[in-house]
Amino acid sequence: MGLEQQIQNVADLLKKSRRVVVFSGAGMSEESGIPTFRDPGGIWDQLDPEEVGTGPGLLNSLTRMPDKIRSFLENTVQVFLRARPNPGHLALGALEKMGILGTVITQNVDNLHQEAGNRQVLEIHGNLYRQRCLSCGYRKTLEREVFLTRVREALRELMQLDLPSILRFLPQCDQCGKPMRPDVVMFGEQVHVLHESFRAAADCSVILVLGTSGVVYPAAAVPQRAKEAGATLIEINPSESVYRDLADIRIPLKSGQALPAIVERLQQAQRS
Ligand code: APR
Repeated sequence: MGLEQQIQNVADLLKKSRRVVVFSGAGMSEESGIPTFRDPGGIWDQLDPEEVGTGPGLLNSLTRMPDKIRSFLENTVQVFLRARPNPGHLALGALEKMGILGTVITQNVDNLHQEAGNRQVLEIHGNLYRQRCLSCGYRKTLEREVFLTRVREALRELMQLDLPSILRFLPQCDQCGKPMRPDVVMFGEQVHVLHESFRAAADCSVILVLGTSGVVYPAAAVPQRAKEAGATLIEINPSESVYRDLADIRIPLKSGQALPAIVERLQQAQRS
């Protein structure tokens, strides 16, 4: 079956479905200039997840290889400062406005789904711009520019990337004055909203699986939960993932290409 026909089939399916959920990963933001983790040239190609993906690993690496970590963080700040919702994100915003898409369950921490207009976003791995107090747990969201500019200043001014110096640079909690860290989930830490994500998956009739390799648990179990509950699973990914055999429809395209084409078909149907 040709790609055009597959895209039409997905549009037809979404048109008659009302409980549509999205499960997204790093591939969703690749076209916004944010590298994925496991693709060639991805983040885990540049750095060892053991060295920077866990709290203790990162602190250890900061003192053991400060230049490598500093340039990685400086580059990451630039990447996130430039990142904006791509046509794939905007298409999901349009699907929510059309009353088709309900909840977006994401592994991404880049806030791009919300910036594209999606309001029901469950962030399993947290959000880079939301800060959490290391002491009392109080949370506060900073503007992207405010947070990233602060990181850039810290990287410029901090001669040494050791813990005491970093703690002095972290934003202070409004409630208890203690340091706050980005509310993102590192390896070995508790994920967020897992129960809500499993419930949304078990309750949907269609799940769109977008740009994820599906290898990191417990998040990767979300599509399986939807499938077990009888949902139709549609995957959009230019390469094969662990969901290839679970997918009822697989569209081997980039999400920024496929999703706008699907929305276009739905809008055409609405106009006719
Ligand atoms: N559109 C759709 N899919 C894409 C695109 C694109 N433009 N570009 C790449 N992909 C696909 C790749 O083929 C791959 O299957 O996106 C997937 C990205 O996989 P990973 O890099 O493993 O990212 P992800 O699945 O989100 O990783 C899960 O691992 O490192 C941790 O916490 C991190 O949330 C992350 C988790």
